[in-house]
Amino acid sequence: MRIGILGGSFNPPHNGHIYIAREVRRRFSLDRVLFMVAGDPPHKSIAFGVDAKERLELTRAALAGEEGLIACDDEIRRGGVSYMADTLMGLYNGVDELHLIVGADMLKTLHQWSRPETIFALAGIIAVGRPDIPGEHEAAQELIKSYGARIRMADFCGPDISSTEIRRRVNMAKGIAKLVPYGVMERIYAGLLYQSEDILSYEKRLAEYTKPKRLAHSIGTMGYAVELAAIWGADGKKARIAGLLHDCAKLGDEDALRLAKEYGYTPNAEEQRAPGLLHGPLGAIRVQREFGIDDADVINAIGCHVFGRMNMTKLDKILYVADKAEFTRTYEGVDKLRDMAKKDLNGAVLMTMNNSIGHLLARGIEPTDESLMIRQAIKRETENNKGDIK
Ligand SMILES: [Fe+2]
Ligand SMILES: [Fe+2]
Repeated sequence: MRIGILGGSFNPPHNGHIYIAREVRRRFSLDRVLFMVAGDPPHKSIAFGVDAKERLELTRAALAGEEGLIACDDEIRRGGVSYMADTLMGLYNGVDELHLIVGADMLKTLHQWSRPETIFALAGIIAVGRPDIPGEHEAAQELIKSYGARIRMADFCGPDISSTEIRRRVNMAKGIAKLVPYGVMERIYAGLLYQSEDILSYEKRLAEYTKPKRLAHSIGTMGYAVELAAIWGADGKKARIAGLLHDCAKLGDEDALRLAKEYGYTPNAEEQRAPGLLHGPLGAIRVQREFGIDDADVINAIGCHVFGRMNMTKLDKILYVADKAEFTRTYEGVDKLRDMAKKDLNGAVLMTMNNSIGHLLARGIEPTDESLMIRQAIKRETENNKGDIK
């Protein structure tokens, strides 16, 4: 077996890692490349304190379905500081060939790693990077001379993606769909990794009175809304808060009517009949009173997330669709909605409205004139192609 080893903290793993591993595996005819997830990397703290188990799961999610690329937990199981020399000792069996994959810029510092002589004795080095890094050739020669290192250069670059940039983007609600595999994105949002302090504290408060399933749906809607905002050029931070808190007033019928009374909100005839419908308008009040949200765009988007409204803003549409397309949804047809949401936002709103009207009719409930009018307006927007189409 010819085995490549790509070490890292994978916080998080991204498309750049995968590209490099695939490419090295192909060019050097390796049977497999192990993504060696560092438990406790030397001289490095883990940003946002993401624990090793979570980084391993992220890496597994990243490599699901990848041929010959494997997430490896040797360093985590071993415990203590993760020295590559120990890792290679663990893998070495005298039969398999080991190839340590590093960035070409690391050739200059490899000799400072713990027990370099062990590393060079047990594994060949595959250095990945542009062929023109100053001093790289000299560094390689020096390692060959001092340690008898076996070094091969892989003169190519992966895409310009870094884990630091991904963490920053999540923190700023910028969207990461193009940078990481879908499963990694899903996990990053579900685990609230790299999130801003305000979101973490809203979530904590929400969790106090929300059942786990609804909480997961709210967090999923948050992540999905951020990604849609990135596609459609809307404000990601507003989408994030609206997504997280949109169902904060979703209650049983009696409690909903009680809360309406407390808030001085008078339900209309329909809301009286089906108090579940109240959670849009009540949510709009609750986010102000209990979460201190004063952004009108966020408040309005939450207020109309059940039915939509005339002249929906981009943020309204994003929340409306994200609610039904978010990561934890598994109903038949959800993939169709997700595809549509990437290409045509109005089309996705219309699809969602048609679904909800269909559900109502199936339960023998006639849609209101208002909801039909809203649907009609969106339909016109879609047909006129005036709206948001990619
Ligand atoms: Fe809702
Ligand atoms: Fe919802």
